[in-house]
Amino acid sequence: MSTHHIIQSHYKTTTQARSIRNGHKPAVIWLTGLSGSGKSTVADALDVELFRLGYQSFALDGDNVRHGLNSDLGFDPADRKENIRRVAEVARLFSDVGFIVIVAFISPYLDDRRNAKAVIGSDRFIECFVKASLKVCETRDPKGLYKKARQGKIPSFTGVSAPYQEPVAPDVTLDTDHDNVPACVRRVLDYLISRQIIPNDSHVDL
Ligand code: ADX
Repeated sequence: MSTHHIIQSHYKTTTQARSIRNGHKPAVIWLTGLSGSGKSTVADALDVELFRLGYQSFALDGDNVRHGLNSDLGFDPADRKENIRRVAEVARLFSDVGFIVIVAFISPYLDDRRNAKAVIGSDRFIECFVKASLKVCETRDPKGLYKKARQGKIPSFTGVSAPYQEPVAPDVTLDTDHDNVPACVRRVLDYLISRQIIPNDSHVDL
């Protein structure tokens, strides 16, 4: 589909004006990692803490977005690419509103994450690798999906019968094999402070 005859409209309220009112800059914290690595758990805890601090935050979770906007998509590489393309565009829009967006999607392909970064902008995109060994994820198996995948009941399951391409130079790495949830949230918040996205006098309660 071409955008050839579509001319963009420009609105007067800028993201910068919204950021001043919010008291922080916009950002997209992109959590990538295996199923069961802890993305949703960290996303939820991070969202709770940002909300408690009075900041504008919202989490986009693969399992939730795939029930709505992306309910027409499966798990072959083309559908995963479209899944990530759409969520990157949505995250971009939320960030234009001045939000700190937390994206929790496996997003297993380097190319798809690179495209997401290009859509969102490198000033706002924070790649956060939620690192857990396949063994630990499989032991946790919170939804029983690894078991089903090993039985051949779920095709193209990430880590079992579909690839996961690890980030090469993530901005933040969370080692959920060893670190607990508050420690992971603390690390992300410290990073947001170091990037001057949230003020350095943010009273983190962890
Ligand atoms: S992504 O690879 O396209 O980024 P996404 O994060 O949206 O994946 O969705 C992953 C979730 O879908 C998993 O947490 C799991 O609950 C579920 N799921 C169902 N089938 C698969 C599959 N084949 N591979 C990975 N996850 C799957």
